[in-house]
This record gives sequence, structure tokens and C-alpha cells, in this order.
Amino acid sequence: KEDPRLQAIFEAIRVIPNFPKPGIMFQDITTLLLNHKVFKDTVDMFVDRYRDMDISVVAGVEARGFMFGPSIALAIGAKFVPLRKPKKLPGEVISEAYELEYGTDCLEMHVGAVQPGERAVVIDDLVATGGTLSAAIKLLERVGAEVAECACVIGLPQFKVKLDSVYVHGQCTINGK
Ligand code: PRP
Repeated sequence: KEDPRLQAIFEAIRVIPNFPKPGIMFQDITTLLLNHKVFKDTVDMFVDRYRDMDISVVAGVEARGFMFGPSIALAIGAKFVPLRKPKKLPGEVISEAYELEYGTDCLEMHVGAVQPGERAVVIDDLVATGGTLSAAIKLLERVGAEVAECACVIGLPQFKVKLDSVYVHGQCTINGK
């Protein structure tokens, strides 16, 4: 019942221990991007899921959501909206702070990029605590958009994600599992 594309996708992700600091097993998707078939399958799995869901916005989280989001947006006929780290976007922005393991970070979105009533999906490479995706959802909801779902390639099962609905390749809803 598991999607036959998944095994190659997971095998193409390189795990680098102790990066960027001791104890962290870094999930490196750059090796997935080197393999055209696996890269395409990764994008296609999102496209298959969102093609007929009336999505007009694909929002990508800096930095690795930028590596998957635009391809998905083009394929499903949606716009792409970058959600960026502070002080990167040149126009007027709205900001949403979120908690990190140590300290806080912030995501920003251009005012006017998304209209009230639009339906969005949020794309990132990985969900750990879900703090980043929660901030992304808040940004979109603050401008009156509806977030149909968040989606990632990788979910880290050791974290308790405080989100209702995150689609992760190979693991449909990770909340509560
Ligand atoms: C990583 C990852 C997600 C986030 C997930 O990004 O790409 O965006 O952490 O963590 P969370 O679910 O606990 O919020 P990172 O903060 O390393 O930023 P970068 O992609 O700009 O390097």
C-alpha cells in the first residue's frame, strides 16, 4: 500500500551525524536533488495530492521549501509565495515569530502576495517541532487565506508536532502517531 516511489526517495536523503552541532542527525535533501528521477518523484507526489484541491497559493519556507515549492506551484497552476527569514524581503511585510530550541526566529511574507479567501499549501523539507509551519500558517491566516494543508518530505517522529494536519511523504498525518 506504500507508494512505490518512497523507498528511493528516502534512500536518496543523506544523513549526516553531528551537523550543525553534536547530537543532531542532519537530514540532507541536497543528495535527493542530484537524482533527477527521485527529485521528480518527490515533487510529483505533492502534485498528485494537491492538483485537484483548488489551491491557488504554494507558500515555501526558507530555505529548503524554496527547493520544492516552485516546481509544485507550476505543476498545479498556483502562485509561489516565499516565506522568508527576517530582513530579506524588500517590500512591506507581516512577521510572525516562533520558538526555537534556544531562542526565537521569525518568518516574513510580503503584504499583498496573498488575497483573502485564497487556498494555500505550505511546503518545507522537514517538520521537527512544527514551530516553523505554525508560524507559516499564522501568516497566511492573518491575511485571510485558508491553509488546506502543510506538507514536507521528512517528518522527525521523535518530536510531538502541535499541528492538526501535516502531510509527510510516507506518513500521512504525523500528529498523534
Ligand atoms: C529547518 C527545516 C524547517 C525547520 C523545521 O530549517 O528546514 O524549516 O528547521 O523545524 P521545526 O519543525 O522544529 O520548526 P532551519 O531552521 O534549519 O532553517 P534553514 O532552512 O534556513 O537552514
